[in-house]
Amino acid sequence: MSFTEQLAGIFVQESAIPAQYALAEEIHQREYLCNGEMKSWDGTVHEVYSPVCIRTESGLKRKLIGTYPICTEKEAFEALDAAVAAYDNGRGQWPTMNISDRIACVEKFIGKMHEQKDIVVKLIMWEIGKSYSDSVKEFDRTVEYIYATIDALKDIDRDSSRFTIEQGIAAQIRRSPLGVVLCMGPFNYPLNETFTTLIPAIIMGNTLLFKPPKHGTLLHYPLLKAFRDCFPKGVVNTIYGRGNVIVPGLMQSGKVDVLTLIGSSKVANELKKLHPKVNRLRAILGLDAKNAAIITKHADIKLAVQETVLGSLSFNGQRCTALKIVFVHKSIADEFVEQLSAAVNKLKYGMPWEAGVALTPLPEPGKPAYLRECIENAVENGASVMNENGGTAVESFVYPAVMYPVNRDMKLYREEQFGPLIPVVPFRNLEETIDYLIESTHGQQVSIFSNDEKEVASLIDPLVNQVSRVNINCQCQRGPDVFPFTGRKDSAEGTLSVVDALRSFSIRSLVAAKLTDANKHLINEIVSEHESNFLSTKFIF
Ligand code: G3H
Repeated sequence: MSFTEQLAGIFVQESAIPAQYALAEEIHQREYLCNGEMKSWDGTVHEVYSPVCIRTESGLKRKLIGTYPICTEKEAFEALDAAVAAYDNGRGQWPTMNISDRIACVEKFIGKMHEQKDIVVKLIMWEIGKSYSDSVKEFDRTVEYIYATIDALKDIDRDSSRFTIEQGIAAQIRRSPLGVVLCMGPFNYPLNETFTTLIPAIIMGNTLLFKPPKHGTLLHYPLLKAFRDCFPKGVVNTIYGRGNVIVPGLMQSGKVDVLTLIGSSKVANELKKLHPKVNRLRAILGLDAKNAAIITKHADIKLAVQETVLGSLSFNGQRCTALKIVFVHKSIADEFVEQLSAAVNKLKYGMPWEAGVALTPLPEPGKPAYLRECIENAVENGASVMNENGGTAVESFVYPAVMYPVNRDMKLYREEQFGPLIPVVPFRNLEETIDYLIESTHGQQVSIFSNDEKEVASLIDPLVNQVSRVNINCQCQRGPDVFPFTGRKDSAEGTLSVVDALRSFSIRSLVAAKLTDANKHLINEIVSEHESNFLSTKFIF
C-alpha cells in the first residue's frame, strides 16, 4: 500500500466514528445574541465543514457539522447600538457596577459554561480538528484563566480600596472601563484566546461586540444563553457574518473604543485606519509571528530535537507561538536533521479523537495547497524534504515535512507557514541568527538551545531587544498564563497575561481632593454611607 493510501486510511466511514466523540446532530444556528435577546435569523447561512473527512461512496468528503448566520451590516449596527446603550457613556449599569457584583456575574457564567463543556469540547474538535485531549485542555485552561482573572481583579481592587495622600492631596486611584470593545479571536485557540481578551474586557466594565472566528464559530453557540443570563442586556452582543462586510462600518462609526484582535497584522492595520479618531482607539492585538529556534554547536541535540518537534508541530504547527524556522549550527546540522526527521516520523497521525494522536487534519481549506507551494518553492531553491513521506497530503491532512537546507530565497524563510512544515537553516556564525531576527518583521519569541553559559548570555542581551520572550533550551509558548504575552514589530500591540489584560482593558482614573476639614468630612460621608461605587473603601475578601 502506498503512503498516500495509508494516509487516506485515517478517514473513516460515518458509522465508524466512536459514539462518545460524535455530535448527536448537526447544529444549525439560527439565532444570535443582541441586546440581551436571542434574536432569530432566517437569512443566509454559512455551512460549516469539519476538516475531518468522511469516507463515502463518492470518495472522501469533509463532514458537514452545521450552519451559522451570515448577518449583514444592519445586524452588526444593531449590536453596536446595544453595546453603546449598555455602556451609556460610562453611566450604564455595568460600567458603574461595583467589582464584587461584576465578579458574581462572571462566576455565574463559569457555572453555566461548565454545563456546556461536553458540547463545546466536541465542537472545538470537529470545527478545527484539534485532538480531543487538547480540546479538553483548551476548555479547562480557559476556565482556569477566568478564575485567575477574578483573583487578579480582587487583588487590584484591594490595592485600590485605600486613599493615597501626597502633598496635602488625598486621592483614590482605580481602574475604569474604556467603553465599547470589538473582540475577534483566532481559529487555532477559538475558545481560549478569544476568552483571554473577552473576559478581562467584560469584567473591567466594558461592553462588548464579539465576532467569533471564521473556523471555530459554532462552538460559541452553546454559550450565548449563558452570556444572556449572566450579564445585563447589551453587555455582550455577538456579530456574525463576513468580517470584510460587517466590521469596516463598525470601525468607521467611531463608536468602537477598543479593538482586540488575535489575527493578522494586515487586518489589524486596515481596521485601525478606518477609525475616524485613531487617538481614541485602544488596540490590544496578538498578531503574526515567525519564532526561531537557534541551535548552537553546544546544544544537547536530543533535547533540541524533542523541543523542536513540540514547538513546530503541536496542533500541526498552527500556534502563533510555534517554532516556524530552525537555525542549526553547520557542524551539527546533519545529525540534528537526521534525528529530527526520525522524531517527526514517529508522531501518531489520525483522527482527532484517537488517543495519543499528534497530527490531525487542517481546518483552512486552502492550507494544503499553500503548504505544497512552500515545499515546491523550497525545492526549486535547493532544499529537500528530509523525512520520508514528508509533505504527502490527502484532502485536509498534510504529513509534516522537514525542509533542509533552507535559505533566504525561499518563502519558508520569511512567511509564517502556520502549518506542519519545519524549515531548517544551517549557520556558521551566531551573528547570522541575530541578523535574521533584526531583519524580521516579527518579534514575538525565540528559543536558544545551548549548554554554554557564555554563549547563551551573548545571545540573551541582543535578543531580548528583538523579541519579547527568550526561551532557553525549550520551545516557545504563551504559558504560564500569568507571564506577559506580547511581541515587538508586527507581532503584537499591548500585553496580555492574567494581570496585564485587566490593565489593557481599563484606564486609571482618580478622585482627588485637598485635605481641608470640609473635604475630609465630605469624603468620610460618601465612604461611610456607601454613596459611590468608585469612591469606596470596601474590601473584597
Ligand atoms: O496561538 C498562539 C497561542 O497563544 C499559543 O499559546 O503557546 O500556549 O500554545 P501556546
